[in-house]
Amino acid sequence: MKVAFFDSKEYDQNSFEIANSAGKYEISFYETRLTKDTCRLAEGCDVVCVFVNDDVNRDVIDELVKMNVKLIALRCAGYNNVDIQYAYGKIHVVRVPAYSPYAVAEHAMALLLTSIRRIHKAYIRTKDFNFSLNGLTGFDLHGKTVGVVGTGKIGRIFIDICRGFGMNVIAYDKFPAKDSGIEYVDIDELWRRSDIISLHCPLTDENRHMVNAESIAQMKKGVVIINTSRGALIDAEALVEGIKMRQVGAACLDVYEEESNVFFHDYSGHIVDDDVLARLISMPNVIVTSHQAFLTNEALANIADTTFGNIEEFFDKEYSINEICYKCPELANCKQEHDKKCF
Ligand code: NAI
Repeated sequence: MKVAFFDSKEYDQNSFEIANSAGKYEISFYETRLTKDTCRLAEGCDVVCVFVNDDVNRDVIDELVKMNVKLIALRCAGYNNVDIQYAYGKIHVVRVPAYSPYAVAEHAMALLLTSIRRIHKAYIRTKDFNFSLNGLTGFDLHGKTVGVVGTGKIGRIFIDICRGFGMNVIAYDKFPAKDSGIEYVDIDELWRRSDIISLHCPLTDENRHMVNAESIAQMKKGVVIINTSRGALIDAEALVEGIKMRQVGAACLDVYEEESNVFFHDYSGHIVDDDVLARLISMPNVIVTSHQAFLTNEALANIADTTFGNIEEFFDKEYSINEICYKCPELANCKQEHDKKCF
């Protein structure tokens, strides 16, 4: 079984080599992203394994099908970067639905604490033997209201962490969980009532730019916005304006709409062309990490094990539990209920 990995980094290679220690798979690791032009690298492979910023569009899908690649194995949970509607009937797509929701939820809290307690500033100061406290005043999380958008695996863990801090939790979810003890509100109420807002929903056509000029205007002055989900949930230009107007008090961003051009690469010493990203990074109340929330040893090991499990299941069995197709979100139309492949 031959598998071509795209956009792979050293940490991917380490974890996948450990998971493949029996040598079952013949693996090629490519640092380049999967594009129409780089598809050829997968010639002769049964599977391509891709990550969040590989743009698996129609052209790429056509090329893969032409080369007789059978499976696109996402080594991530989100699949907004794959045209799953176009892929339907042509090539199967599997993903890793959960590898460590704790990793992402804990990173969201790490960003929040860093931001509001100014740890990023204090760290640099004390490194330079500057022990002044001026400008480092934060605020207590205890008693504050956090609005959680998306109460799936990650959102629920984030809620538990917030409750541990004595915060009041309100949430919005398109499909609220029954009997969960979570106080669900509509999205406008969440914008209005939250001191802190954390996004934990998938990116879809309907919620692209859900944080925009209009929603920011409804939020409490000084709101802290955390996004560890997908960049395009936020209109980044509107966020810059919101911060400039002092409406948004701080932003903690692990994802960014145009991240595929910059994240995962070392551009120190280069001029970054993206003015919006540069402006955000220049702001003292914005913390950017480069899609790092998933990056723990536990998550990497789970990603590798589940990805190989997905591949094995797909080729050896009738069903493929982690397959996705555009019908899957509306399970009524999806054969997965009957333990069959999607097509
Ligand atoms: P999940 O599928 O367990 O939960 C997602 C929740 O969002 C569900 O409760 C669903 O009903 C809800 N939802 C769906 N559409 C919605 C909408 N339009 N508005 C509000 N809620 C909506 O997913 P999980 O594992 O909790 O992951 C959430 C997101 O986190 C993923 O979609 C992915 O984009 C992101 N993620 C980011 C990572 C990182 O490293 N930064 C790593 C892993 C996931």
